[in-house]
Amino acid sequence: EVNTNYFCTKQEDVQRLLKLRKKFSHKGLYGHALLLCGGYGKMGAAVLAARACLRSGVGLLTVQVPQAGYPILQTAVPEAMTLTDRNRKHLSELPQDIQKYDVIGTGPGIGTERVTKTAIGQLLATSSHPTVIDADAINLIAASDKLKAQLYKKKLIFTPHPKEFERLVGKVKNDYDRLQHLREFCMEYGCYVVLKGSHTAVGTPEGKVYFNTTGNSGMATGGTGDVLTGIITALVGQQYTLEEACLLGVYVHGLAADLAFPSLGDIAMTASDVIDHLPKAFLHLT
Ligand code: APR
Ligand code: MG
Repeated sequence: EVNTNYFCTKQEDVQRLLKLRKKFSHKGLYGHALLLCGGYGKMGAAVLAARACLRSGVGLLTVQVPQAGYPILQTAVPEAMTLTDRNRKHLSELPQDIQKYDVIGTGPGIGTERVTKTAIGQLLATSSHPTVIDADAINLIAASDKLKAQLYKKKLIFTPHPKEFERLVGKVKNDYDRLQHLREFCMEYGCYVVLKGSHTAVGTPEGKVYFNTTGNSGMATGGTGDVLTGIITALVGQQYTLEEACLLGVYVHGLAADLAFPSLGDIAMTASDVIDHLPKAFLHLT
């Protein structure tokens, strides 16, 4: 018997999803994203997420970084507006005017300091934004029952790698068990989970699972996960549904790496190379 919970994303599926721009469009139509990313010694995570977000069509981007990250972000990503946290090294607070953003992405490079846990707690408790939650934001939530209790009835996309996923749902016995946990977590919290790997699986609140078909071993290098956070955040900002943003985001992320492969190969490929091939990937789908 065929199990109807499992699907495979094909190119024609994502091509159908892609929204083409109108001649008289302006940046106000493509969303204002807020990234809460980066920390002392991990500003590269914020830079990669921000650059990927911009290369994925977001209208406006604001990045809030710890004070020490301000000159780095402003220099590396001139297109982004930059806010600074009161804290010198770590995420510790939310921006005053958080209401004005269309989407939030957080996790890459933020670390797991106590002040950062407090900030993530405030985000879950007070914001109703669609939010992409990655890396240390996942680790902080996984380690706190109080934070986990705040996950219900929100517009959340989690993007764990297999270890972050196990912190969130507990030890898994095998690959099938991992997929069962994926479906149960998504159904329990009504959220989306992008379970990353060589065949990334997107879980939906209905308990469906979509397997991605793009990507290669050149992506097995630090920072490619931060790139995906930026891509999905940008797509949610552009009014893709959370499900569309997950499926298109994961597909185009892998496609960019596949288009980089012929000239760069998998040994030398870096996360920045994946970003640099996003334009070709989006063009490939249009
Ligand atoms: N084939 C296809 N895709 C792959 C492959 C592969 N062999 N290897 C990795 N990828 C993709 C994954 O699907 C995912 O989208 O690359 C990305 C890697 O993301 P992460 O595991 O989150 O790695 P990244 O965040 O860039 O690593 C930096 O941050 O999350 C922490 O613990 C992590 O120390 C690490 C750091
Ligand atoms: Mg990661």
